[in-house]
Amino acid sequence: MIVCFIGFMGSGKTTVGKLLATELGIDFIDMDAFIEERAKREIRDIFKEEGEDVFRRLETEALKDILLFPTSFVLSTGGGVITRDENIALLKRLKHRIFLKADKAVILKRLEADRTRPLLLGEDKEERIGRLLEERLPKYLEASSYTLDTEGYRVEEIVELCKAYLKSS
Ligand code: S3P
Repeated sequence: MIVCFIGFMGSGKTTVGKLLATELGIDFIDMDAFIEERAKREIRDIFKEEGEDVFRRLETEALKDILLFPTSFVLSTGGGVITRDENIALLKRLKHRIFLKADKAVILKRLEADRTRPLLLGEDKEERIGRLLEERLPKYLEASSYTLDTEGYRVEEIVELCKAYLKSS
């Protein structure tokens, strides 16, 4: 079984994914961490030194390779994985694709002091998040098999809702 989390930066994919993997007794894979380990560099340095296109290529390669793993695992993808149609097509081969939906205010609060997301550095963070969210929402919906609106839920409750979805699907 592969359970894949998609959603915007700061929507809780890694936190929820890790806990769900522990509860299901399967591995957890974080795509960003996988890419950093392979490239032996942090994502912000890849963006800074080689640009977003190179990062996106590494991201697609990582996704392809991860999906070949023979074991069961929970996968947390990067928020921009849906910017490439090729990635959406790869993701759609999976049965369980959970979109963790969070609104702008929550994301802004969580990422206010964050310096690790290159796409949110520099300009007005709120405006940037709003624009990217709007642009990406249809793609998150297209790529997912289930949308979980996380508003007002604690991490443990979100994990329970994910388990209920997995059971029913
Ligand atoms: C990105 C999201 C990040 C990371 C990179 C680009 C994006 O992952 O892949 O900074 O384009 O939204 P998280 O969603 O895990 O923060």
